[in-house]
Amino acid sequence: MDNWSPTSWQSADVRQQPTYGDPEAVKSVAARLAVLPPLVTSWEVEALKGQLASAARGERFVLQGGDCAESFAECTSDSITAKLKILLQMSLVLTHSLKKRVTRVGRFAGQYAKPRSADTETRNGETLPSYRGDLVNSLAFTAEARAPDPLNLLRGYQRSALTLNFIRGLIDGGFADLHHPEYWNLDFVDHSQNAAEYQRRVESIADSLKFMETLAGVDVGHIDRVDFYSSHEALHLVYEQAQTRTVPRREGWYNLSTHLPWIGLRTAFRGSAHIEYARGIRNPLGVKVGTGMSPADVAHLVEVLNPDGEEGRLALIHRCGAERIAAELPPILRAVCATGKPVLWICDPMHGNTKGTREGMKTRAFSDILSELEQAFDLHRANGTILGGVHFELTGEDVTECVGGARGLDERGLRRAYRSQVDPRLNYEQALEMALLVARKGTAA
Ligand code: PEP
Ligand code: CO
Repeated sequence: MDNWSPTSWQSADVRQQPTYGDPEAVKSVAARLAVLPPLVTSWEVEALKGQLASAARGERFVLQGGDCAESFAECTSDSITAKLKILLQMSLVLTHSLKKRVTRVGRFAGQYAKPRSADTETRNGETLPSYRGDLVNSLAFTAEARAPDPLNLLRGYQRSALTLNFIRGLIDGGFADLHHPEYWNLDFVDHSQNAAEYQRRVESIADSLKFMETLAGVDVGHIDRVDFYSSHEALHLVYEQAQTRTVPRREGWYNLSTHLPWIGLRTAFRGSAHIEYARGIRNPLGVKVGTGMSPADVAHLVEVLNPDGEEGRLALIHRCGAERIAAELPPILRAVCATGKPVLWICDPMHGNTKGTREGMKTRAFSDILSELEQAFDLHRANGTILGGVHFELTGEDVTECVGGARGLDERGLRRAYRSQVDPRLNYEQALEMALLVARKGTAA
């Protein structure tokens, strides 16, 4: 790799990094991180790359989802189990209707750093640093909480390790049973005008599982190996650099803090330090693309990040918004096709659809999310490209952050259980319903 090293990003345009009071303390934490064991292995990373390559060819489908921002406080067994459960159930609905294996990628075990639109926040005349995720500082609006603490880098690494350890244990031990619809909470179904259709789909999933297990004698957990890959926004470059390693008998450098690091929209510009960092690692990469980027910018990204046209290397995660996708996506698809390089297309229908309520809360409408996704399927088909995956902000719990869905949650209902530290997530029922509706669209496509 020409002129690249794990530190070459430092001479590019570095944005969205915290300002620490004690730079020496950051250096010493980074040195400790650099010798701690890796969180993932290079062979897992390569296995995921192979799966992303098949998703790009339309042979698989990727379901990426989890919190907008994980928090240290929610690194609990209940929250992790609930997240795995909803991802597993959604993936079964998708497998069944799309007739494709589904690769599950969590936004977890490291999704602790957030980009912000401003460096500072002012309330009642007091100005403090913005909250940048638990990897950096804490949410409470006090000078102490908002001061970036270098030790949070180690705390984030440790919680990522705890999360992955628990996930690996669950996967080894029968967790796949949660595939079975008798474990699903389907109370919401009756509240929907699509109740009959949802019931039919769930019954048909249950029937095919029964068929496989009783007649064919195979345990579904074995057919569709229940693995989960991890992903997070590779935002905090000191943290990412410290976990960038070479491994025996493989070429090049791997970021072993996660399987699939992604670059956010705010740091994907030309000349960005984040793109410079990402270009040199061997992991598959995600990059958010959409509003504010020209088709030529996106094509340029493809050339920089995948110069050899390696399959499975690059996922472009488009996030335009339901109102803009029809105008914005096709020129991007054409510009990328013209590069001749393979990419995996994933639709993030969350980040272009964030709205403020009258009371100043952030929300997203279930109907906008669904609309962007449905349009994405159609636009890819019309342009001869393949939508190979979806990307959601969701939780397995009963939160009230997005409006709509079968229960018709409205703005007044948001206060009941609004827990997100940053962006609004689909709750358990909304996420499962979304999978049932994507399934319908995918089947029709
Ligand atoms: C996110 O995924 O939480 C995020 C900040 O997205 P984007 O970079 O697309 O705005
Ligand atoms: Co978000």
